[in-house]
Amino acid sequence: MQSPTILNAAKAGEPATPNGAEAAVPLAPFIPRHVAIIMDGNGRWAKRRHLPRTIGHRRGVEAVRRVVRYAGDRGIEVLTLFAFSRENWRRPPREVNELLSLLRRYIQSDLEELLSAGVKLTMIGARDELDPDLRAIIEDGERRSAENSKMHLILAFNYGGRDEIVRAAKRLAKAAVDGDLDPDQINEGDFARCLDTGMLPDPDLIIRTSGEQRISNFLLWQSAYAEYSFPRTLWPDFDEVMFEEALCDYARRERRFGAVDGGAARAVG
Ligand code: FPP
Repeated sequence: MQSPTILNAAKAGEPATPNGAEAAVPLAPFIPRHVAIIMDGNGRWAKRRHLPRTIGHRRGVEAVRRVVRYAGDRGIEVLTLFAFSRENWRRPPREVNELLSLLRRYIQSDLEELLSAGVKLTMIGARDELDPDLRAIIEDGERRSAENSKMHLILAFNYGGRDEIVRAAKRLAKAAVDGDLDPDQINEGDFARCLDTGMLPDPDLIIRTSGEQRISNFLLWQSAYAEYSFPRTLWPDFDEVMFEEALCDYARRERRFGAVDGGAARAVG
């Protein structure tokens, strides 16, 4: 992907250039380490075309392929995709089966390409609740890609932020009961390490497509200081240009992490 420079990217609060145009800002230094995406709008995409919702999800997989390649090209370290929430089991069985099957087929068909692109694959979510066959496919992908380091692709599947927090609390409680941990000594770092995201950096940028502006139980703990982007595009239509636009918008933001005047801006992952 060429052009590490973008136009019209003056940061928030900075004056525009004298002729009224915003200053050019190089994108490369402001690439987020971790981008997380709520891939919303597959159903509406299909409905607008009088197609079954399942077709929207299938087209959604093509958008997944585009963003994974683009994120790798852009040097994003971690890309997390929200592919199936714990609440999604409430959908009609046909749609649930399609989503389970799409994950299975995606890993089976794309793993070789992911491996040769240096992508490490990890699933977050309640994996114990998944069918053993699907779990075996996911864990085979995780095992085979474990040494890769170009980009870390996290698939949030059967994932819920509150569920993840409860599971982390249980791990800490068990360690305390076993005498391995003093409850008074538990700090935020201990808690974060017990989440599914373990040692990963927190997301810098969370994108939700389709114009909806909700978190929907996604990365609740990890998103404490995330920036958000809400493009109106429905997920199957999301492409490299729109991803780039979200990155440009992110590059303009001044992140303060509770400090003032850029004191901590961009210094924290
Ligand atoms: C939300 O759109 C999307 C989902 C619940 C599933 C997302 C899944 C994919 C993009 C495909 C599978 C992914 C992988 C990684 C293989 P929605 O159905 O809620 O859309 P709507 O709000 O328009 O109804």
